[in-house]
Amino acid sequence: MTIKKGQEIDLFIEQAAFGGKGLARVQGFAIFVEQAIPLDRVKARIVKKKKNYAEARVLELLEPSPDRIQAACTYSGFCGGCKWQFVNYEKQLQYKHQQVREALEHIGLVEDSLVHPTLASPVEFGYRNKMEFSCADRRWVLPGQLGCQDIDTSMALGLHVPGTFYKVLDIDACLLQPKLGNQILSDVRDYIKKSQLPVYGLKSHQGFWRFLVLRHSAYYDQWMVNIVTSAQQRPCVQPLADHLLETYPNVVSVINNVTSRKAGVAVGEYEQTLAGSSTIVDRIGAYEFELSSNSFFQTNTKQAQCLYDTVMRYAGLTGTQTVLDLYCGAGTISIYMASKAKEVIGFEMMENAVSDARKNCVRNGVKNCSFISGDIRNCLPDLDRKPDVIVIDPPRAGMHQDVVKQILNLSVPKMVYVSCNPATMARDIGLLKEFYDVIEVQPVDMFPHTFHIESVALLKKRNV
Ligand SMILES: C[S@@+](CC[C@H](N)C(=O)[O-])C[C@H]1O[C@@H](n2cnc3c(N)ncnc32)[C@H](O)[C@@H]1O
Repeated sequence: MTIKKGQEIDLFIEQAAFGGKGLARVQGFAIFVEQAIPLDRVKARIVKKKKNYAEARVLELLEPSPDRIQAACTYSGFCGGCKWQFVNYEKQLQYKHQQVREALEHIGLVEDSLVHPTLASPVEFGYRNKMEFSCADRRWVLPGQLGCQDIDTSMALGLHVPGTFYKVLDIDACLLQPKLGNQILSDVRDYIKKSQLPVYGLKSHQGFWRFLVLRHSAYYDQWMVNIVTSAQQRPCVQPLADHLLETYPNVVSVINNVTSRKAGVAVGEYEQTLAGSSTIVDRIGAYEFELSSNSFFQTNTKQAQCLYDTVMRYAGLTGTQTVLDLYCGAGTISIYMASKAKEVIGFEMMENAVSDARKNCVRNGVKNCSFISGDIRNCLPDLDRKPDVIVIDPPRAGMHQDVVKQILNLSVPKMVYVSCNPATMARDIGLLKEFYDVIEVQPVDMFPHTFHIESVALLKKRNV
């Protein structure tokens, strides 16, 4: 049977594929189906046809998988925030486990690796400590709202339709963030609507209001509200900041990031504190971390402890080791390991994260951590000590090939690779495996209801 673009076809979904799609096979030919899960039988339309695979969209659910459940959120199926809310949580964990195993096998060509069952998040909803809502000068309505006269479509403050840069759903409530976040979201929307300034157009690149970024301290139940605008007009945003601080005792910081860049990135070229403090404080395990608006912090604070405990267990520190913490962000893993290491050296590119890391050491009374600021690719060759353990926690893109080579030259007995992307982790491990054995891998679910999965891999140098 030949598969053609535009063709309608009945498919049985065999497994969950990377990226949250369902995988069906027609005479061995792979078809990836958006919004479908294993054991679904669907009528689908082929939307893309390549030599080795095709992509399809569901037209009709002919027979639902027994693993489907009623999603708690109105926007499920339309919003890019979480794509698996309609999947039983136990199954989500199994799909994620399978993805990590298959990435290692097919991309890393690592056979028979010991991948443990996924560790579940202690909470399934309200777990996100950071949410980024986009402004748009047009609201993308749900299919059931099409043609409704009483819906104001002149603006949206919410989340993107998956894979689109300009289609923004106006979100009343996102269940992934704690409840007060939704109240703040609603207040900010009302204020923007009443303001004299226009909302930013994602196609026209004109307008003032760009993003709302909410940051929550899970331990202290405090909030940072970061309003991202295209210009600095303090008199226009200050009343909003004052309102939030006066109305909500748990809001302790209101920041204004200002960006004139066209890129849809909610980070300002500079920022101003409008009300309260310029940072908030959260805690992982026994350690406190002070966070500025743009520093990286694990988004599921409660589960971060489980992630870091796994890193600690794999690192197996006894107090005598020199440890490198590559891609260290605000130094959270460095600080977590410090009491069990002789010395920890963190490497990080973002200046403000390094500055947070240094402050966080002082805050926690940690004296044996130091941080090197810059691109690892340029800084690592200048290292003047011989490490015993390397912890690697790169961004989604994984490591640069040169960094992989530099790491191999260091010839450490043990590495702990932490990753939010099984595909790039598998690729990098594939490059390391000539000299290292993959001892075990622990998937840790930091992101319930999404297809994203964090993993920790323990690698040991052969013949050590
Ligand atoms: C996944 S985060 C890890 C943060 C930290 N380990 C944690 O658990 O909070 C990746 C970090 O790598 C940093 N980064 C990305 N590319 C880099 C590079 N080429 N050199 C140094 N740091 C980099 C990012 O700024 C980010 O803070």
